[in-house]
Amino acid sequence: MILESFKPNFPTEMIEEGRVKVLVPELKAFVKLPSEYAPSKAPVFYNPVMELNRDLAVLAVQAYQRKIGRKICVCEPLTGCGLRGIRFAVEVQGVRKTLISDINEQAFRLASYNVQMSRLTKHVTVRKKEANLALSSHSAPRQRFDVIDIDPFGSPVPFLDSAVRALRDRGLLALTATDMASLCGVHPRACVRKYGGRPLRNEYCHELAARLLAGCLTTIAGRHDLGVDMVFTHRGEHYIRVYATAKYGAKSADECMRNMGFVFHCFTCFHRETAKGFPEVAHSRKCDECGSRLSVAGPLWLGNLSDAHFCDLMEQEIQKRKLKLGGKIRKMLTLVKSESNAPPTYFVVDKMCDALNLPVPPVDDVVESLRKEGFHASLTHFSSRGIRSNAPARKFADTLHRMV
Ligand SMILES: C[S@@+](CC[C@H](N)C(=O)[O-])C[C@H]1O[C@@H](n2cnc3c(N)ncnc32)[C@H](O)[C@@H]1O
Ligand SMILES: [Zn+2]
Repeated sequence: MILESFKPNFPTEMIEEGRVKVLVPELKAFVKLPSEYAPSKAPVFYNPVMELNRDLAVLAVQAYQRKIGRKICVCEPLTGCGLRGIRFAVEVQGVRKTLISDINEQAFRLASYNVQMSRLTKHVTVRKKEANLALSSHSAPRQRFDVIDIDPFGSPVPFLDSAVRALRDRGLLALTATDMASLCGVHPRACVRKYGGRPLRNEYCHELAARLLAGCLTTIAGRHDLGVDMVFTHRGEHYIRVYATAKYGAKSADECMRNMGFVFHCFTCFHRETAKGFPEVAHSRKCDECGSRLSVAGPLWLGNLSDAHFCDLMEQEIQKRKLKLGGKIRKMLTLVKSESNAPPTYFVVDKMCDALNLPVPPVDDVVESLRKEGFHASLTHFSSRGIRSNAPARKFADTLHRMV
């Protein structure tokens, strides 16, 4: 297709993001009511709110490339207007080839136009293929990708099998999930069906959502004798995102499966426990603290959600770039790094104070008090009011009482 022949039959505008300029649907032309969600009304998907997600993806792919120290091939099989894939090709050093693809004809045409306009036709290939098909045609050895970024509508699960098969040994897989109603327990049956684990609708449901997605990936990768390690995980406004590196071999897969387990949560007294492996998940299990019935989430990933060294590499990359959202990203990276080795689950100060009928102290003061008492305490990017701690719920509550 030559540039001149491309005439979109819908309103478009040129935008700048990172170091690229691309043509996207003019969103305001597609909404009639302020309540309408513009990105999904347009003939080609484009969501400006996901800039942070794409910025972090650029940093993560660059961090990964630096870590492995050779040229890489990248695939974005659900590309929309091509923005993310084009950013990888332009902003990440050491990208040899990028394949972008979309099932939607208009998206394919717009992405092709954007690739040509950016003078990237030698480096970026555009396909109009169903994502599983695009990935499966790269599942043979030496055809596989170093990096695959799955950024779908809703759940990435329908693409996991093909993504795992198309990923090179030691490759990086990035997954976005926007089906938060399933993952956060509003529709628990949908979560069990899609992710193979039970969610819980509690104060740390977003962390459980990330762990359910990571757990689902671990199980699917395990079927292909692949182990996966989560190197970076973050929560967005309406999504979660997990970056995992793969390691071929049944032994690695078995080792990673050891990070699977359950979270037991008491809705009465905030007590929570984790158990790795597949213990007897009796529904009648009682809370050791108050005797209420424990609710269970999982099976899910109980290993680390992020790797501190990988976060360091991402932090180094941000120093070299001018990103509009740089300040926000720096703060997020610092928090994610600080919680990378902390225990699973967090306490939400406001929720506990509410239940205990106590005034709400500043979160930083609670962290300090817990530390003084000898407990681990750190903030979490999952919730601005959350604290990760190895203190039992009872001790946490005592601390809040003492602070009044
Ligand atoms: C959330 S949008 C992608 C946004 C893009 N990754 C970005 O960062 O701007 C999801 C895209 O997947 C495409 N899509 C949906 N189902 C697909 C499938 N089975 N195969 C390929 N593309 C698909 C849609 O047309 C849409 O453009
Ligand atoms: Zn209890």
